[in-house]
Amino acid sequence: MQGFDVVVIGAGAAGLFCAAQAGQRGLRVLLIDHASRLAEKIRISGGGRCNFTNRDVGPNNFLSENPAFCRSALARFTPQDFIKLVQRHGIAFHEKHKGQLFCDDSSERIIQMLVDECATGGVTRWQPCTVADVRPLTGGGFDLDTSQGAVQARSVVVATGGLPVPKIGASDWGLRLAKRFEHTIVEPRPALVPLTFDADRWAPFADLAGLSLPVEVSTGSGKARARFLEDLLFTHRGLSGPAILQISSYRTANDQPLQINLAPDLTLDRDLVEAKASSRRQLGTEFGSRLPQRLAAAWLARAALDAARPLAECRDADLQRLGRSVHDWPLTPTGDEGWRKAEVMRGGVSTRDLSSQTLESKRVPGLYFIGEVVDVTGWLGGYNFHWAWASAAACAQAL
Ligand code: FDA
Repeated sequence: MQGFDVVVIGAGAAGLFCAAQAGQRGLRVLLIDHASRLAEKIRISGGGRCNFTNRDVGPNNFLSENPAFCRSALARFTPQDFIKLVQRHGIAFHEKHKGQLFCDDSSERIIQMLVDECATGGVTRWQPCTVADVRPLTGGGFDLDTSQGAVQARSVVVATGGLPVPKIGASDWGLRLAKRFEHTIVEPRPALVPLTFDADRWAPFADLAGLSLPVEVSTGSGKARARFLEDLLFTHRGLSGPAILQISSYRTANDQPLQINLAPDLTLDRDLVEAKASSRRQLGTEFGSRLPQRLAAAWLARAALDAARPLAECRDADLQRLGRSVHDWPLTPTGDEGWRKAEVMRGGVSTRDLSSQTLESKRVPGLYFIGEVVDVTGWLGGYNFHWAWASAAACAQAL
């Protein structure tokens, strides 16, 4: 039987970073992953360029049953800490939008950086390798049965990620292990995911597929209200784009309605009425000059108004109704594109059962959960990787 100080299960973003840090602290670390290719999620992330962090990261950018849980780890490992590491490895990057940092060339650079950091820490990696069982020992530590033999370790770190994109190695192994050791699981749900509608209800909008525009989207009420100003994309089956991905994470039930303002910079209900005095255009031309043409045509059809009618002859009430229908489009999705298309998992191992300082289980000493398997879910924009790095760093310091 081989002995290690730490076995890290899952060699994705959090597992690689935790193993490297623990190794560099002088611990004997074994990193195990069941997939044949290393860190596929990093590879495909950010359209192949990995949005590896965000310049501005705080607890408000995360969802969790306990929104304060991530505070400690985020305070101790900041975006600047990760940026310094990236710079030390000579990786060129740029800021795209709202603080989002991407590699200039390829996400492979981040994977190579993590592999190099693991090599510096003398980390042993077994891949592909599966773990059949983890047994806590009475005097502390664990026995593990793996496909490469039995292993003993003082600590075990579970970094098996979330359920999205099963075809590249996602599994519920970490959740099952947590449940077996009596941890509470917050129901996992697809998040950062495109939303879908009944084909019949979506038929009037299906021709808009491919249209993208900046919108304001919101859901919920009071303290639970979430609101994003981002781009929305019409698809054949429903809605996608950053605005929809962001708001999808805040849906707690399938029948939860969204409110969409399709022209947040305009006040069409007022503007169209005011334009009557000076415009000699037809309604369709005037309305179409303020919105993407395809959208304007679809919204005129929904309002059952004649596009050829001179604006000056339109009733104020009709123009106000048309304008309001653009600014206040209430709709209730019927579902989402599921784990195949989700970028992250909402829910996971309950933060109630973990230390926010170290990510150690309160139920099984020596057992840790880090990264996406934990009930901490980031916004779109580099926040999920930042949680992977920060939770890994907090854990590695405590091992
Ligand atoms: P991660 O999924 O990275 O790693 C888990 C590892 O565990 C995998 O290697 C898996 O093979 C392994 N594993 C699973 N079960 C196992 C088992 N039973 N035994 C052994 N190993 C097992 N985030 C972001 O911040 N910026 C971005 O640009 C993107 N882009 C993006 C695009 C797409 C298409 C997706 C699907 C996701 C993103 N994300 C993202 C989210 C981000 O990829 C994700 O949050 C992190 O990779 C989570 O890191 P973890 O290490 O927790 O899991």
